[in-house]
Amino acid sequence: MLADVLARPLKDLRISVTDRCNFRCTYCMPFNEYPWMERNELLTYEEILRLVGMFVRLGVEKIRITGGEPLVRKRLDVLVSGLASLEGIRDLSLTTNGALLAKQAEALHEAGLKRINVSLDTLDPEKFKRISQRGELASVLEGLRAAQSCGLYPIKINAVIERGVNDDEIVPLAEFARARGFAIRYIEYMDAGNANHWRLEKVVTKREILAALSARFGLREARRADSSTPAVSYEFADGGGEVGVIASVTEPFCRDCDRARLTSDGRLVTCLFSAKGHDLKSLLRSGARDSELSELIARLWGQRSDRYSEERFVSPQRGVGYEPSRAPKLEMIVLGG
Ligand code: GTP
Ligand code: 5AD
Ligand code: SF4
Ligand code: SF4
Repeated sequence: MLADVLARPLKDLRISVTDRCNFRCTYCMPFNEYPWMERNELLTYEEILRLVGMFVRLGVEKIRITGGEPLVRKRLDVLVSGLASLEGIRDLSLTTNGALLAKQAEALHEAGLKRINVSLDTLDPEKFKRISQRGELASVLEGLRAAQSCGLYPIKINAVIERGVNDDEIVPLAEFARARGFAIRYIEYMDAGNANHWRLEKVVTKREILAALSARFGLREARRADSSTPAVSYEFADGGGEVGVIASVTEPFCRDCDRARLTSDGRLVTCLFSAKGHDLKSLLRSGARDSELSELIARLWGQRSDRYSEERFVSPQRGVGYEPSRAPKLEMIVLGG
């Protein structure tokens, strides 16, 4: 079986279908303008499906569609239906900001999408505008309703918690999710990309998140569905649903990281904090055979030794504080989280 330098298999592929987004979240993509990718740089759906076929033969079982915002790419349902009919994929899902979901949920579900993750950091419409800089809370709530009524399940809400911004909403977001049958996951604010002015003081830790929740609800740790998934899961003791915490800052999970990322312009990226990716598109467009492309992917995975979040974590253990890398990183909008 294919394994990297740290004996980690390749199981999960996160596919970014565009670097564009209709939001400008302060913790992700605060710029108005950016050197966006040109249309002809983007992989076509046919090219994505061809590459995914190779990834599946190399061991990938889980596919996540991301962006930027994936729903801004035209006819995403066509890609979903292609992916849903590929053999060997046991999990196909999508991460979205939800703004365009009301219009597209049904087509996506009919195309074969089963589940979905929706970002929602606040229930306050004004704060929502401040964080997303462009979005409307009402459109996301409408998107969530549409996703639920067409049968997407489970629906997971992702809330990035930033100190002084929405740490007062940990409990209200849980109440909201519980009342509607959504799972909720709180995400520690990460030093992803170069644009978000991350500082350690802004991180609300897993410990703090759980303390806030435990003051209001009984919680018990749940079994992890899969040892490599980033979220540590809890259940409400009264049976009111599922809560997760993604603690990539204070409890890094690189040891089990089996995730590769494919950018919309066809680069293979082996870590969320990578400085650049490996070009697959040139070979793909040069008329290469599947075997040549597969060999390239296998070789790149075989050389992988990334463990950024663990490396960043070493310094606090020595009492020095966290040290995010100063080297330039790819932006989250290119990697889709
Ligand atoms: P499921 O639990 O399978 O639904 O997926 P997920 O949690 O991997 O997906 P999602 O796209 O909703 O990501 C949630 C958060 O986890 C985002 O903030 C991601 O950036 C973060 N995340 C996902 N994978 C990794 C990873 O490999 N490393 C780090 N540091 N963060 C990750
Ligand atoms: N830290 C943590 N999560 C982030 N996301 C985007 N930027 C950051 C960051 N700096 C999240 C989004 C989305 C997921 C794909 O990544 O909120 O839910
Ligand atoms: Fe916000 Fe997601 Fe867009 Fe980033 S990609 S700006 S997190 S909506
Ligand atoms: Fe994987 Fe890199 Fe995230 Fe570690 S920091 S879990 S290696 S993507």
